[in-house]
Order: sequence, then structure tokens, then C-alpha cells
Amino acid sequence: MGRLDDKVAVVTGAGRGIGREIALLMAREGASVVVNDVGGNTDGTGTTMIADEVAEEIRAAGGQAASNTSSVAEAAGGEAIVQTALETFGGVDILVNNAGILRDKTIFKMEEADWDAVLAVHLKGHYCCSRPFANYIRDNNRTGCRIINFSSVSGLYGNFGQANYGAAKAGIAGFTRVLALELAKYGCTVNTISPGALTRMTIPLRENRGETVDDDAIEASGPQHIAPIVAWLASEAGAGITSEIFHTGYRGVGIMQQPRVIKQFKKKEGIWSLDELDNIVPQLVEARKANMEAADTEGSSIEV
Ligand SMILES: NC(=O)c1ccc[n+]([C@@H]2O[C@H](COP(=O)([O-])OP(=O)(O)OC[C@H]3O[C@@H](n4cnc5c(N)ncnc54)[C@H](O)[C@@H]3O)[C@@H](O)[C@H]2O)c1
Repeated sequence: MGRLDDKVAVVTGAGRGIGREIALLMAREGASVVVNDVGGNTDGTGTTMIADEVAEEIRAAGGQAASNTSSVAEAAGGEAIVQTALETFGGVDILVNNAGILRDKTIFKMEEADWDAVLAVHLKGHYCCSRPFANYIRDNNRTGCRIINFSSVSGLYGNFGQANYGAAKAGIAGFTRVLALELAKYGCTVNTISPGALTRMTIPLRENRGETVDDDAIEASGPQHIAPIVAWLASEAGAGITSEIFHTGYRGVGIMQQPRVIKQFKKKEGIWSLDELDNIVPQLVEARKANMEAADTEGSSIEV
């Protein structure tokens, strides 16, 4: 018996990398899987039929799968992806918004097309697939559903040269918090993953730093390490866990802070003067640093 028996899952960007591993694991756990992927290059150009290959791999292993090659970056694409699940498997329970591209440049060189392409696949892509999924579960009273979104430390911490990607990935964390509120009534959980894995997206960065990415490195840090927490959240065990950010990869699984006001001063009356702020703002910044240091200590890995 699998953890996802009788469930139907849609995994976007599942032709390779993290998405492929999620699709394969979900299928092994009994889910019928829609493998979506345009099969493009890392920068979002081009198309290939890799979604078909992964769907075939799942079927060859005895699982249930259908492929879809629509782009998540268009509303019609999102509709078609969800429709593939409904037409092939008669319903849908799990949506994993994983598809992604990169166009890294500093703000000085970032063209409008680089900004638009990255925001379209990541942030708009989450909207395009989540909307038909959410409407389906509301209109059909489908219970126990799950949305699992893909953010990144690039947006949650910040990363040089990724203003477009970081903005999209931070936006996805905000999108998740809102959807978690809106879909709670339908028993659908919505969570964010902040992954770290050696894939074609990250291997070139390692190699540029002079590191060798060999089979041992892939075994220790490949995309297969991201799939378990995603499948777990999608399973019955994940019921009630919503609006969280799970940081995972390199054999680690952790949970992230959510933004909160950690220190605040309030005037009894009147408006802050700039001279008063000379005194207040450094205290706020110090409080934030102490809070961050405490989180970094608490968040260091516990080996199990
Ligand atoms: N690898 C990491 O360390 C890392 C870190 C942080 C975040 N992420 C995020 O994890 C997700 C998966 O990344 P990955 O490392 O497996 O990358 P990857 O490039 O191996 O896989 C991404 C897949 O998405 C597909 N895709 C791109 N645009 C699409 C579109 N418009 N419609 C449908 N499919 C599309 C690509 O064809 C590709 O197969 C991405 O959202 C990425 O931003 C990855």
C-alpha cells in the first residue's frame, strides 16, 4: 500500500531535475501523475518532449502517468494541465508548482524580457496552475487536497544577480500564505518548499566555483533528496500542516521562520521625529541581528 494510493497528482516541470524525482516518488507511492514539462532550456527557450519520457518511465515501472507539454506561464496552459488530470484520471488532489527557469543578470544589465520571462514562469506560473486547481476543488467539494509551491533562498534570503528570480520566489512565499488562508475552508493545505539540489540549474554554479560534480556528489545532493518531504506533505500525514516553508536538500529537512515584527516601539502620542529615530532604528536593527543569530544557531543541522 502506498501513501498516495487513489490520489491524482500534477507535477509541473517534471521532465527533469527535482520535478521528475517528485513525479517518480509520487507514482511509486501509488498516485496517478500528470507529468508536465515544456522541455525547455534553463533560460526558458526551446521545447522537447521530455514529459513523455518520464510518463513512460512511470508506466514501465507499473505506475499510472500522463504527460502534458503546456507552459505554466499562460492561463490557458494551467487550465490544460489541470484538464489533463481530469480527463485522464477523473479528478485531481495534488498540485506541485515546480517548473522554473533562470535568467541571471545584475539589475544593470537585466532586460525587460529577462524580468518578464522569469516572473511569468515562476510567479505567474503558480497562479496559472493554482487557479483552475482551486476552482476544481471548490466546485467539486474535493477534500484532502494539497498545493506545494517552490520558492528559493534566492528570494527568501537574497542572492546576487537574481533580482528577477528572487522577486518571483519571494512572491511565491507570499502567494502561498494567501492561498493557505483562502483554501483552508476546503481542507486544502498550501506549503512552500525552499530546495537545494544539484540539478542543471545549480551544477554550473558549482563548477564555476571550481567544484567537481561527480556521481558521489549527485548521490549526496541530487534532486532525489527533495522528493520525500513533498510526497509526505501530499500524503494524509500532511493534513493540517499549511502555510509553512520547508527548507530541504543535501540530506537536510528544516522549517523556516515566517516574517513577524520582532521588536517595536510605540509613541504615546504624536509623530516620530527624525532625531528620535536616530535612537530607535539602531535598536531595531540590533534586535533583528540577535533574532537572526538565534535562528541560525537553532537552525543548524541535528544529525539523525
Ligand atoms: N536546484 C536547486 O538547488 C533549486 C534551488 C532553489 C529553487 N529551486 C527551484 O526548484 C524548481 C525545480 O528546479 P530544478 O533545479 O529541478 O531545475 P530544472 O531546470 O532541472 O527543472 C525545471 C523544469 O521546469 C521546466 N519548465 C521551465 N519552464 C516551464 C514552463 N513554462 N512550463 C512547464 N515547464 C517548464 C523545464 O523544462 C525543466 O524541466 C524550480 O522552481 C527552481 O527554481 C531549485
